[in-house]
Amino acid sequence: MAAYEITDHYYDVVVVGAGGAGLRATLGMAEQGLKTACVTKVFPTRSHTVAAQGGIAASLANMGPDNWKWHMYDTVKGSDWLGDMDAMEYLVREAPKAVYELEHYGVPFSRTEEGKIYQRPFGGHTTEYGEGPPVQRTCAAADRTGHAMLHTLYGQSLKNNAEFFIEYFAIDLIKSEDGEIQGLLAWKLDDGTLHRFNAKMTVLATGGYGRAFFSATSAHTCTGDGGGMVARQGLPLQDMEFVQFHPTGIYGAGMLITEGARGEGGYLTNSEGERYMERYAPTYKDLASRDVVSRCSTIEIREGRGVGPNKDHVYLNLQHLPAEALAERLPGISESAKVFAGVDVTKEPIPVLPTVHYNMGGIPTNYWGQVLNPTADDHDRIQPGLMAVGEAGCASVHGANRLGSNSLIDLVVFGRAAAIKAGEIIDPDSAIRPTNQASTDSALERFDRMRHLNGSIGTAELRLKMQKTMQDDAAVFRTSESLAEGCAKMDKVAGMMNDLSVTDRSMIWNSDLMETLELANLMPNALATIVSAEARKESRGAHAHEDFPDRDDKNWRKHSLATVGDDWQVDLTYRDVHLNPLTAEKDGGIEMKKLAPKKRVY
Ligand code: FUM
Repeated sequence: MAAYEITDHYYDVVVVGAGGAGLRATLGMAEQGLKTACVTKVFPTRSHTVAAQGGIAASLANMGPDNWKWHMYDTVKGSDWLGDMDAMEYLVREAPKAVYELEHYGVPFSRTEEGKIYQRPFGGHTTEYGEGPPVQRTCAAADRTGHAMLHTLYGQSLKNNAEFFIEYFAIDLIKSEDGEIQGLLAWKLDDGTLHRFNAKMTVLATGGYGRAFFSATSAHTCTGDGGGMVARQGLPLQDMEFVQFHPTGIYGAGMLITEGARGEGGYLTNSEGERYMERYAPTYKDLASRDVVSRCSTIEIREGRGVGPNKDHVYLNLQHLPAEALAERLPGISESAKVFAGVDVTKEPIPVLPTVHYNMGGIPTNYWGQVLNPTADDHDRIQPGLMAVGEAGCASVHGANRLGSNSLIDLVVFGRAAAIKAGEIIDPDSAIRPTNQASTDSALERFDRMRHLNGSIGTAELRLKMQKTMQDDAAVFRTSESLAEGCAKMDKVAGMMNDLSVTDRSMIWNSDLMETLELANLMPNALATIVSAEARKESRGAHAHEDFPDRDDKNWRKHSLATVGDDWQVDLTYRDVHLNPLTAEKDGGIEMKKLAPKKRVY
């Protein structure tokens, strides 16, 4: 192995990732006086949260009646009864507080006439426990809400003396001999130096793994780095079979057109000009939950009612909306439609297609962000030294399907929760335990081995094989045959990892090596997804299994746990869903009968 010099850094907390969850956690830690580092592979305001458009859900009731219980009911139903009730209650009850904090930190929300935070309708968000009209619950900064949040949270983190290590790539976690996570090894991309972050708590806020698929709204940086690092420590990934397709990715380009467009009055049509959502979801129509809308668009295309020369997409219509409303509420997507589809939204419909958008699954945590390492006897056993928040984590508040705008609120509520918990358990005056050198050495050896890979297949070529397999075989609709074929193909694809060729051996700005490390992170995420999907013999939320079209609560209301071995073999176990909310009905909690599973119709 080449000789590498390592620079050591010592912190109470190291946060990996600077999207909405990473920055909210960083800010919360730093505000409490914890010495906090944030390590990020991209400049904070370029993290993928910048692409979040439509808004952040919280029952502020600025536009009409709303309350946390309705928000909870919608979230439970949206999750297709797979989410953990305690985490879901925590999310919706803390949501208004978390949004007002953002407002006070300086997020420039759009405003109502009276100066309150503007809220728009979003899919699956209703009143009266799904019996009333859609609610306006999604707080928005035009259609650039994530962008506004990132800038504010980054500024506030700097003001509170958090330290940023920008364009540092996290290689691997470091674990003590007795199993505590002690920090991580990272590579500074612009000068090639290596850095060990020694910390009392490591927080993974590395985002999703949308780039395991061929067509995704996710940035190219969404490579499941946290899930990859966790899998290499022998820890499981939870509910990975649930991959969300957003109904309105721009056809051909994959760019997101926010659900806020339908919230503001947009609607989908097929080749016959029919507003087909009226047929599938008579009550909420285009504002049904997004897994439902994605399936309906896919059916329209499959049954020959798609638009365009190949009848392979559908139209999103906004041209009937007033031009001033489009300019004020949806300026970002008006521009994206022009640039990526050549469409003037005031005159023509936008060609759209269901596109991979979000991973409901991830690193299992409790609602404080503490990572779980379940055993057969203790499904909620805590992994010392490690937290995960945001899309990288799985608390699980989204269960089998996430509602639009419940992601941004998840980022800030659980980023904040992780900071609150860390404040309770970390003593800033205590010494940092000496870091395990053997674990550091094995991270270093793996890095060196990847750097010198000398096989016969390029990283981009193998990545494409993985992406195409996942796109074809873990799609909106799945069958036993497609999933079995997908597992077999992914087994072969993963088997080629040792035959990769890295042609650039340098340490400075080596994008070939970085993309190879990213592919090594994507791979366990992709394998866990397809194997968990193949095993789940039911349909629930985003997992639409054509051979098992019904939900099966008796056998499958449970979380999948996938452990990916060094040989890429996936071992599956299961974990109980938390069926009890935080607050009992007699103490003012939601009525239990409202939370009972039933048929999910919109
Ligand atoms: O459609 C959107 O603006 C996406 C929001 C979300 O995924 O929460």
